[in-house]
Formats: sequence, structure tokens, C-alpha cells
Amino acid sequence: MSAAMPLLEIRRVTKSYRPPGGSPPISVLRDASLTVQAGESVAIIGPSGSGKSTLLNLIGGLDQPDDGSVLLDGVSVSQLGEAALAQMRRDRIGFVFQSHHLLPHCSVLENVLVPVLADHSSTDSAVEQRARHLLERVGLGDRIHQLPGRLSGGERQRAAVVRAIIRRPALLLADEPTGALDRASALEIGRLLADLNGIDSVTLLVVTHSRELAGQLGRIVEMRDGQLVEA
Ligand SMILES: Nc1ncnc2c1ncn2[C@@H]1O[C@H](COP(=O)(O)OP(=O)(O)O)[C@@H](O)[C@H]1O
Ligand SMILES: [Mg+2]
Repeated sequence: MSAAMPLLEIRRVTKSYRPPGGSPPISVLRDASLTVQAGESVAIIGPSGSGKSTLLNLIGGLDQPDDGSVLLDGVSVSQLGEAALAQMRRDRIGFVFQSHHLLPHCSVLENVLVPVLADHSSTDSAVEQRARHLLERVGLGDRIHQLPGRLSGGERQRAAVVRAIIRRPALLLADEPTGALDRASALEIGRLLADLNGIDSVTLLVVTHSRELAGQLGRIVEMRDGQLVEA
């Protein structure tokens, strides 16, 4: 394969939802296309209901396009079997959502280690070292044994970001990761994401309503009438 193969290619993707009760389908994505090279950081902006979350779900293989294709590492996500899809999701993609989704009865450290539990390396002390190191790096070094409920919103979201990157994903998908945070915490998350991109070479695709967060990333794409347009 050529070195110029994009990490992610969305090719003329169409998606509509069929509401229950026989109402006409809602067309969400119409020929949406986007190419992301490894190492890029991309903000996706656009009004509420314009299909941003739908797009991330398709990229993450959580849903299927009606038409068109999503290629990750040149491989069509919708053509992967269930096992291969699960493996790709686990090995290549990290997810961060608006809500942190941390397990309330597990410590910060345990939460961060959840993605490696199913893995042989879970007994590996190297991965725990990495978790501790990352938590220190995001300023949670003294909170690792706390339950999420004892943390601030910004701290919880930092833990969620660490959990998302514990397996060293090539692509981090974030859906309004600062949507529930105050401005200072949002700026911190923005800096953390920018660092992950700049220092750790994680490719970022970040849905956000925040112009400030979008401005911390390398490229802005707008969802407009079901298509992706360079902003
Ligand atoms: N699972 C679903 N079933 C039916 N309609 C959906 C579903 N998911 C999203 N939609 C509809 O698709 C449109 C786009 O939603 P979404 O992708 O969540 O937008 P955004 O993330 O940009 O706010 C909205 O009109 C929403 O109601
Ligand atoms: Mg959304």
C-alpha cells in the first residue's frame, strides 16, 4: 500500500432513519465525503441534529451507511465481519463522549484499565504503568484510587480521555467532549487533545459546538445539509 493511504476515508455516505409508525424517512447524510490523513486533527461543527453523531457512529462501525463507504486503513468498515469489526474498534479507535461513562463503583485507575481487561496483556504491569503515567500527565496522579463521583466534571472527562487512549488507538473519535464542562475545564480538555495529537500522533476527529475547541485543532469541517464542507 502506498504511504499516502489516508487513515480514514468517508466516500459519498448516505444515511437516513426510518421513524417508527410509517412516517417518511429522515435523510441525515447525503453524499457526505471526508478524507483524513494520519496525524491530522479535525473538528466537525454544525447545528444540532445535522448528523454529526450519526457520522461518528458510522466511522466507529456502530451503525451502517445506506450507501457509500467508510474506509479505515483502506478497509471498508461495513464489510468487516462482526469479529473483525470488534477487533478494529478495539485496536484502532478510541471513543470519548459528552458524558464520561465511567463506572461509578470502579476507581479512576480501574476505569482506565477497562479496555484492556479482555486482553491477555491485562496482567501485564506495563499497561498499568502506562495508565498511571497517563493519569499523572493529565493531572490525576493523586486521584487514581478515587471513585469517579469524587472528581470534578473536568477530571472525570480527563479520565475518560485516558481510558480512550490506553490501547494507543490510531484514531480518537470525540463527540462533544467538552459539551458538559465549564470553560476552564473545556480548555484543559482541548489542550489535552491537542497534546495527544501533537505529541502522541493520535489522529483526532472531534465533534464540537465550541469555536474555541475547534480553533485548538488543525482543521475545521462543517456538517451542512448532510454533507461535509471545509470551513
Ligand atoms: N437511531 C436513530 N433513529 C432515528 N432517528 C435518528 C437516530 N439517530 C439520529 N436520528 C436523527 O437523525 C438526525 C441527526 O442526528 P444526530 O446525528 O444525532 O445529529 P447531531 O449529532 O448533529 O446533533 C436527527 O434528526 C436525529 O433525530
Ligand atoms: Mg450529536
